[in-house]
Amino acid sequence: MIPEGKLSKAALDKLFAAALAARENAYAPYSHFAVGAAVATPDGQIFAGGNVENAAYPAGCCAETGAITAMVAAGGRQISDVLVVADCDRGILPCGACRQRIAEFATEDAVVHSAGPDGVHKSVRFAALLPEAFDRQTLESEPARAV
Ligand code: THU
Repeated sequence: MIPEGKLSKAALDKLFAAALAARENAYAPYSHFAVGAAVATPDGQIFAGGNVENAAYPAGCCAETGAITAMVAAGGRQISDVLVVADCDRGILPCGACRQRIAEFATEDAVVHSAGPDGVHKSVRFAALLPEAFDRQTLESEPARAV
């Protein structure tokens, strides 16, 4: 089954609207691929971001990164839902690096919603997008052998 997750239709609509508005302000003069993202915290706060490209290409930032940075700046430390919106037939899900960034804050049952400008197309469990992630527990685990 899944995953509209635990969000009500109204809450999902709000998350979508926030991501879409951020996409309107995306700065993507090189790829022309505008992305918007919004993250929701378990207590219902929403933070959004759009991608920000740079003439030095690798210095650009994904939309998800902007949304996560805004959440952290406001004191948020948990993500229950992520919504990503772009205009592409194939549908968009977070890139690999952003999956790792999301993993840092994702609740166990976090859900990622993939949207086009017309609305949400599908929702998947975050755990399915980055199984066996490198995380805090990995860093803090005991050495398997002496070095
Ligand atoms: N991009 C995102 O903002 N999020 C993703 O999950 C994938 C890619 C951006 C980065 C770049 O500005 C443009 O899309 C093309 O890769």
